[in-house]
This record gives sequence, C-alpha cells and structure tokens, in this order.
Amino acid sequence: MNDPGSMLQTERLKADDAGIARAAGILRHGGLVAFPTETVYGLGADATDPQAVARIYAAKERPSFNPLIAHLDSFESAKAQGVFDETARRLAEAFWPGPLTLVVPVAPGCTISDLARAGLDSVGLRVPAHPLAHALLQKTGRPVAAPSANRSGRVSPTDAGHVLGDLDGRIDAVLDGGVSQVGVESTIVACLGGSPRLLRPGGVPREAIEALIGMKLEGGPEGGKSPLAPGMLASHYAPRARVRLNATEIGQDEAALLFGSAALPGIETARTSLNLSNNGDLVEAAAHLFSFLRQLDASGAATIAVSPIPETGLGEAINDRLRRAAAER
Ligand code: TXA
Ligand code: MG
Repeated sequence: MNDPGSMLQTERLKADDAGIARAAGILRHGGLVAFPTETVYGLGADATDPQAVARIYAAKERPSFNPLIAHLDSFESAKAQGVFDETARRLAEAFWPGPLTLVVPVAPGCTISDLARAGLDSVGLRVPAHPLAHALLQKTGRPVAAPSANRSGRVSPTDAGHVLGDLDGRIDAVLDGGVSQVGVESTIVACLGGSPRLLRPGGVPREAIEALIGMKLEGGPEGGKSPLAPGMLASHYAPRARVRLNATEIGQDEAALLFGSAALPGIETARTSLNLSNNGDLVEAAAHLFSFLRQLDASGAATIAVSPIPETGLGEAINDRLRRAAAER
C-alpha cells in the first residue's frame, strides 16, 4: 500500500520569501503543499506530474477521480493550457485574478496531466487573486492542481489550522497565509462551445457574470451538482473497447491492463499489454491509469482485460473509474 498515512512530517511554512521558495521547491519535486487562495486553502501538486496528482487523491482519501482545477499565475499562462472562445476570454479578462474557474477545451500544447483532468478533453483553469498563491504559482512556474485542502467529505478549510486538522502528517507542507477571505469555492463556468454553463455557484455571483456577457447562464444550484459528479459527465473519457474487469487470464488478441508482478495465463498471445505498477504501488497505478487506458484503446483491441486491483487506498478510486469504463457500453 502506498497511502501516505501519517508518515510525513508536515512543514509549517511562513508567508515570506523563504517560505514561498521552499513551497515552490517541494511542488517542483512532486510533493504536496497546501496554500491559501482567496476562496479556501488548496491542496497543491504539480499538475503536469501524474504521480504528484495521484498523491492528492491519496492524501484526501477521495474514493473517485474528480477533475481538479489547475491554478495559474496569469491569463497568459492559462492560454497555453486551454482554448478560450470569445466568452471565456471576456470572463477571464473581467474576473481574473479572482474566484472564477473556467472549464475550456484543452489546448494542443496542454501539459496538465490526464489524471488531473480525470481523462477529460476539457480542463478547469483558475488564476487566484491571493498574493501568496500568486507568488507561489509564479515561483513554481507550472500549473498547480489544487482541490480544497480537506479530507474527502469534510468542510473546506479557510485557515492553516483547519488544513492541519485534516491533513497533518499526510502532506509535505502548508504555507500559512492567514484566513481566506471569500470562504466559499470559486464559481465554475464551462465554455465548451454554445452557451456558457454554470457548473458550480461560488465566489463570483451569477448576476455579475450574466451582466458581463449579456445573457442568462444555463445551469444553477440544482443543475450544478449532477453534471459535476465524476463519471456522469457525458464527455467523461470512456474507452471504445469493451472493458473486462478482474481478469485472471488474458484472451487471444485482448489488450491487457496489468497490476503487480503476477504472470497471467494467456499474456503471450495478448495484442499488447501495459502494467500500471509492477510492484503493486497504487499511487503509481493511479498516475498511469488514464494514459494507459488510452494507449490500450488505441491498439484497436476489441477488449481491454484488467487484472484485479485491491480496493484499498487509491485502489478504490481506480476501481471506481474502471467500473464506470466497463459499464459505459
Ligand atoms: O475555490 C476553489 O475553486 C478551490 C480553490 C483551492 O481554488 N478549489 C476547488 O477545487 O474547489 P475542487 O477540486 O474541490 O473542485 C473542483 C471542481 C470539481 O467539482 C470538478 O468536478 C470541477 O471543478 N471541474 C474541474 N475540471 C473540470 C472539467 N474539466 N469539467 C467539469 N468540471 C470540472
Ligand atoms: Mg472541495
């Protein structure tokens, strides 16, 4: 098992140049740093590093892979990751930096990992207004994936003490920037062609957005929850191939998604195979999951056979995603 458990010594970093430099260094080496934004504290990891992103899910004990918001230091940086249509551009110019997240199609040069996007072809981007968050993002020089810095099922933290209450010993550091002023998460608007949609109400009021774009936003509190539920998004990545779970042998011409070192009968005649983690490391397995599914699907095999994966730690989220992929036929 590769759950961080309480094995880490969580560093308390001060809101000064040394603290910011240390936090950026940890992020650039694949570690987890909680940091303040104007909405709530985020649990940050290098969004381009799938292993680092996998550690977020492990630390939070999230039972499934939600797409995460990638935080950037500027609209310029965001444009390298996502495609902004006219509406998205106007919203970004009006409300960034600030408590607004825009879900847009991924740009061709997008470096945000599949895992941070939960396999979607869209990406959630936000430029936070908090000066410490801004300084940290600039110093890190990479998009930083950050859900709220609480354990799954608990309330979002608005100071460093809340973060430690939930995550002490499970993350590398917390950057202490006092109390988050907004206290609710960012408003999420999807600009994916057609009319923009409100996916989650938050720090920027709906009315302010509607006034700027001169039209009503589709979606709302009632429509806001279900479209966000992981795996319920119509656009959620589903392989073309049939997915066969808990395979104890591999059929001829099947693509094999393996886990661990056990040799499966029939593997010699598989069309192709990839191992999520030879030594049974669930964090490594999570990091590979979406890209390996894509690669195996691209082999043209009719079926992807998947080895059994334990239901412990990140295994729960991995199996949740695989069950959805297997059901979506
Ligand atoms: O204020 C905030 O937004 C805080 C701070 C830390 O920035 N972050 C935050 O992240 O609330 P999180 O992970 O708790 O919420 C992310 C939400 C999820 O509900 C997710 O479904 C949605 O954003 N999301 C992210 N990318 C998406 C995408 N490509 N399509 C649809 N929804 C997306
Ligand atoms: Mg949250």
